[in-house]
Amino acid sequence: MSQPKNIAIFISGGGSNARKIIEYSLVEDCGFKVAMLVASKPDAGGLLVAAEHNIPTLVLDRKTFRETPQLLSILKEFDIDFIVLAGFLWLVPTYLVQAFPDKIVNIHPALLPKFGGKGMYGMNVHRAVKAAGETESGPTIHFVNERYDEGNIIAQFSTPISPEDTAEKIAAKVLALEHAHYAKVVEEVLLSW
Ligand code: GRF
Repeated sequence: MSQPKNIAIFISGGGSNARKIIEYSLVEDCGFKVAMLVASKPDAGGLLVAAEHNIPTLVLDRKTFRETPQLLSILKEFDIDFIVLAGFLWLVPTYLVQAFPDKIVNIHPALLPKFGGKGMYGMNVHRAVKAAGETESGPTIHFVNERYDEGNIIAQFSTPISPEDTAEKIAAKVLALEHAHYAKVVEEVLLSW
Protein backbone atom coordinates (compact mmCIF):
# COMPACT_ATOMS: atom_id res chain seq x y z
CA MET A 1 0.00 0.00 0.00
CA SER A 2 1.46 3.36 -0.98
CA GLN A 3 1.50 6.38 1.32
CA PRO A 4 -1.94 8.00 1.72
CA LYS A 5 -2.26 11.17 -0.35
CA ASN A 6 -2.75 14.47 1.47
CA ILE A 7 -5.98 16.19 0.57
CA ALA A 8 -7.30 19.67 1.39
CA ILE A 9 -11.08 20.09 1.61
CA PHE A 10 -12.46 23.50 0.61
CA ILE A 11 -15.87 24.53 2.01
CA SER A 12 -18.17 27.53 2.26
CA GLY A 13 -21.03 26.21 4.37
CA GLY A 14 -22.33 23.53 6.66
CA GLY A 15 -19.65 21.02 5.84
CA SER A 16 -21.69 17.82 6.03
CA ASN A 17 -19.73 16.37 3.10
CA ALA A 18 -16.47 17.48 4.73
CA ARG A 19 -17.53 15.59 7.86
CA LYS A 20 -18.27 12.43 5.88
CA ILE A 21 -14.95 12.64 4.05
CA ILE A 22 -13.02 13.20 7.29
CA GLU A 23 -14.79 10.26 8.94
CA TYR A 24 -14.11 8.07 5.92
CA SER A 25 -10.40 8.96 6.06
CA LEU A 26 -10.13 7.65 9.61
CA VAL A 27 -10.72 4.04 8.63
CA GLU A 28 -7.69 1.84 8.37
CA ASP A 29 -5.87 1.81 5.02
CA CYS A 30 -7.75 4.78 3.59
CA GLY A 31 -5.92 6.07 0.50
CA PHE A 32 -5.98 9.67 1.72
CA LYS A 33 -5.49 11.83 4.77
CA VAL A 34 -7.35 15.12 5.29
CA ALA A 35 -4.33 17.35 5.90
CA MET A 36 -6.12 20.69 5.81
CA LEU A 37 -9.54 22.32 5.67
CA VAL A 38 -9.91 25.62 3.85
CA ALA A 39 -13.01 27.79 4.33
CA SER A 40 -14.28 30.83 2.45
CA LYS A 41 -16.11 32.09 5.56
CA PRO A 42 -15.00 32.32 9.19
CA ASP A 43 -18.34 30.85 10.33
CA ALA A 44 -18.41 27.88 7.93
CA GLY A 45 -19.74 24.93 9.93
CA GLY A 46 -17.07 22.61 8.60
CA LEU A 47 -14.43 24.50 10.59
CA LEU A 48 -15.87 22.94 13.74
CA VAL A 49 -15.62 19.48 12.21
CA ALA A 50 -11.95 20.10 11.42
CA ALA A 51 -11.33 21.34 14.96
CA GLU A 52 -12.90 18.16 16.39
CA HIS A 53 -10.32 16.16 14.48
CA ASN A 54 -7.34 18.49 14.98
CA ILE A 55 -7.14 19.22 11.27
CA PRO A 56 -5.37 22.52 10.45
CA THR A 57 -7.69 25.17 9.00
CA LEU A 58 -7.34 28.26 6.88
CA VAL A 59 -9.98 30.95 6.26
CA LEU A 60 -9.60 32.62 2.88
CA ASP A 61 -10.01 36.26 1.98
CA ARG A 62 -11.79 36.47 -1.40
CA LYS A 63 -9.60 39.12 -3.03
CA THR A 64 -6.37 37.40 -2.01
CA PHE A 65 -7.73 34.05 -3.16
CA ARG A 66 -8.71 35.43 -6.55
CA GLU A 67 -5.78 37.69 -7.27
CA THR A 68 -2.64 36.32 -5.67
CA PRO A 69 -1.19 32.83 -5.55
CA GLN A 70 -0.22 33.06 -1.83
CA LEU A 71 -2.38 30.03 -1.17
CA LEU A 72 -0.02 27.88 -3.26
CA SER A 73 2.82 28.20 -0.77
CA ILE A 74 0.49 27.25 2.09
CA LEU A 75 -0.75 24.17 0.21
CA LYS A 76 2.88 23.29 -0.48
CA GLU A 77 3.80 23.71 3.18
CA PHE A 78 1.09 21.18 4.07
CA ASP A 79 2.24 18.91 1.24
CA ILE A 80 -1.21 18.86 -0.37
CA ASP A 81 -1.56 16.46 -3.31
CA PHE A 82 -5.24 16.91 -4.12
CA ILE A 83 -8.09 19.37 -3.47
CA VAL A 84 -11.68 18.38 -2.76
CA LEU A 85 -14.33 21.08 -3.07
CA ALA A 86 -17.29 20.26 -0.84
CA GLY A 87 -19.83 23.06 -1.00
CA PHE A 88 -17.19 25.68 -1.92
CA LEU A 89 -18.93 28.56 -3.69
CA TRP A 90 -16.14 30.65 -5.22
CA LEU A 91 -14.85 30.14 -8.72
CA VAL A 92 -11.42 28.50 -8.61
CA PRO A 93 -8.81 30.90 -10.06
CA THR A 94 -6.60 29.93 -13.00
CA TYR A 95 -3.38 29.80 -10.95
CA LEU A 96 -4.86 27.12 -8.71
CA VAL A 97 -6.32 25.05 -11.58
CA GLN A 98 -2.92 25.17 -13.30
CA ALA A 99 -1.03 24.19 -10.15
CA PHE A 100 -3.37 21.20 -9.59
CA PRO A 101 -4.23 19.87 -13.07
CA ASP A 102 -6.91 17.17 -12.75
CA LYS A 103 -6.20 17.29 -9.04
CA ILE A 104 -9.22 19.33 -7.95
CA VAL A 105 -12.67 17.75 -7.77
CA ASN A 106 -16.09 19.16 -6.96
CA ILE A 107 -19.49 17.74 -6.16
CA HIS A 108 -22.52 19.38 -7.73
CA PRO A 109 -26.03 18.51 -6.49
CA ALA A 110 -27.59 17.75 -9.89
CA LEU A 111 -27.00 15.63 -12.95
CA LEU A 112 -24.69 17.86 -15.01
CA PRO A 113 -24.62 19.22 -17.66
CA LYS A 114 -28.16 20.16 -16.67
CA PHE A 115 -28.67 22.61 -13.80
CA GLY A 116 -25.08 23.83 -13.57
CA GLY A 117 -23.27 27.14 -14.01
CA LYS A 118 -23.10 30.45 -12.18
CA GLY A 119 -25.85 30.91 -9.59
CA MET A 120 -26.70 27.22 -9.63
CA TYR A 121 -25.94 26.22 -6.06
CA GLY A 122 -27.87 25.11 -2.99
CA MET A 123 -31.65 25.24 -3.17
CA ASN A 124 -31.54 27.14 -6.48
CA VAL A 125 -30.52 23.86 -8.09
CA HIS A 126 -33.23 21.74 -6.48
CA ARG A 127 -35.95 24.33 -7.20
CA ALA A 128 -34.91 24.38 -10.86
CA VAL A 129 -34.97 20.57 -11.00
CA LYS A 130 -38.47 20.58 -9.49
CA ALA A 131 -39.70 23.33 -11.83
CA ALA A 132 -38.40 21.40 -14.85
CA GLY A 133 -40.41 18.35 -13.82
CA GLU A 134 -37.39 16.06 -13.80
CA THR A 135 -38.00 12.43 -12.90
CA GLU A 136 -34.52 11.93 -11.42
CA SER A 137 -31.72 13.91 -9.84
CA GLY A 138 -28.47 13.22 -8.07
CA PRO A 139 -24.93 14.44 -7.52
CA THR A 140 -22.21 14.80 -10.14
CA ILE A 141 -18.56 14.51 -9.14
CA HIS A 142 -16.29 16.21 -11.64
CA PHE A 143 -12.82 17.65 -12.17
CA VAL A 144 -12.60 21.41 -11.77
CA ASN A 145 -11.54 23.86 -14.47
CA GLU A 146 -11.84 27.65 -14.66
CA ARG A 147 -15.57 27.54 -15.43
CA TYR A 148 -18.36 26.65 -13.02
CA ASP A 149 -19.43 22.99 -13.26
CA GLU A 150 -17.83 22.33 -16.66
CA GLY A 151 -14.88 20.04 -15.88
CA ASN A 152 -14.86 16.39 -16.96
CA ILE A 153 -17.37 14.22 -15.16
CA ILE A 154 -15.98 11.44 -12.96
CA ALA A 155 -19.17 9.91 -11.55
CA GLN A 156 -22.92 10.51 -11.24
CA PHE A 157 -25.49 8.92 -8.95
CA SER A 158 -29.21 9.26 -9.43
CA THR A 159 -32.38 8.87 -7.42
CA PRO A 160 -35.97 8.93 -8.71
CA ILE A 161 -38.08 12.02 -8.08
CA SER A 162 -41.81 11.72 -7.76
CA PRO A 163 -44.19 14.56 -8.61
CA GLU A 164 -45.01 14.93 -4.88
CA ASP A 165 -41.37 15.54 -3.93
CA THR A 166 -40.75 19.13 -2.85
CA ALA A 167 -37.46 20.87 -3.65
CA GLU A 168 -36.47 20.25 0.00
CA LYS A 169 -37.19 16.55 -0.36
CA ILE A 170 -35.14 16.40 -3.56
CA ALA A 171 -32.28 18.18 -1.73
CA ALA A 172 -32.36 15.60 1.05
CA LYS A 173 -32.34 12.68 -1.38
CA VAL A 174 -29.41 14.13 -3.33
CA LEU A 175 -27.42 14.96 -0.19
CA ALA A 176 -27.82 11.38 1.04
CA LEU A 177 -26.22 10.19 -2.20
CA GLU A 178 -23.39 12.70 -1.80
CA HIS A 179 -22.66 11.41 1.69
CA ALA A 180 -22.76 7.80 0.50
CA HIS A 181 -20.38 8.25 -2.44
CA TYR A 182 -18.12 11.33 -2.43
CA ALA A 183 -15.33 10.06 -0.18
CA LYS A 184 -15.18 6.71 -1.96
CA VAL A 185 -14.95 8.34 -5.39
CA VAL A 186 -12.17 10.62 -4.14
CA GLU A 187 -10.27 7.58 -2.91
CA GLU A 188 -10.80 5.77 -6.23
CA VAL A 189 -9.43 8.75 -8.17
CA LEU A 190 -6.37 8.85 -5.94
CA LEU A 191 -5.79 5.11 -6.19
CA SER A 192 -5.92 5.35 -9.99
CA TRP A 193 -2.83 7.61 -10.09
C1 GRF B 1 -23.80 19.98 -1.45
O1 GRF B 1 -25.13 19.83 -1.85
C2 GRF B 1 -22.90 19.96 -2.65
O2 GRF B 1 -23.41 19.23 -3.73
C3 GRF B 1 -22.82 21.39 -3.04
O3 GRF B 1 -22.87 22.11 -1.83
C4 GRF B 1 -23.54 21.33 -0.84
C5 GRF B 1 -22.63 21.27 0.34
O4 GRF B 1 -23.26 20.76 1.47
N1 GRF B 1 -21.65 21.65 -3.84
P1 GRF B 1 -22.44 20.56 2.81
O5 GRF B 1 -21.82 21.91 3.17
O6 GRF B 1 -21.41 19.53 2.54
O7 GRF B 1 -23.45 20.12 3.82
